[in-house]
Amino acid sequence: MPEVRIVFVCLGNICRSPTAEGIMRKLLADEGLDGVVEIDSAGTGSWHVGEPPDARAAEEARARGFRLGGAARQVQRDDFARFDYLVAMDGSNRNNLERLAPDAGAEAKIRMLRDFEPGGGGDVPDPYYGGAEGFQKVFDICERSCRGLIEHLRREHGL
Ligand code: 4NP
Repeated sequence: MPEVRIVFVCLGNICRSPTAEGIMRKLLADEGLDGVVEIDSAGTGSWHVGEPPDARAAEEARARGFRLGGAARQVQRDDFARFDYLVAMDGSNRNNLERLAPDAGAEAKIRMLRDFEPGGGGDVPDPYYGGAEGFQKVFDICERSCRGLIEHLRREHGL
């Protein structure tokens, strides 16, 4: 049984949240924490449901020794019961999650990914309409933030 459940949330669930998911899975496995922390990702939008991660995000991850997987799904109200943390990539994702949250307890589970980045904060920029540099930047931000998130989990959940 996992002790902590986390879902990363972006708009399409094909670029940023699958990147954070793939990074987090590998970092957790490297630290022997797979099985202790459950990881998933979802999008606030439905346009890409069923699609694999964007090829540009997958290539950036592959080049760095990470693998992205899964099929896009839309976030559900029920995710607030299934997960302990709903981690938004940007302020728009957070606003959408706040509107979906069934109660105050659910709303308290929403976080911003970059709040876990040392010296970070703010949005993970949407790379979808840009070039390869955007995907490199997203990967760097997600990796730093995920390392910070693991430190947070170790501190707060005694992992
Ligand atoms: P993501 O990127 O939210 O990081 O998965 C996007 C993917 C698709 C679209 C926008 C952002 N779109 O407009 O279709």
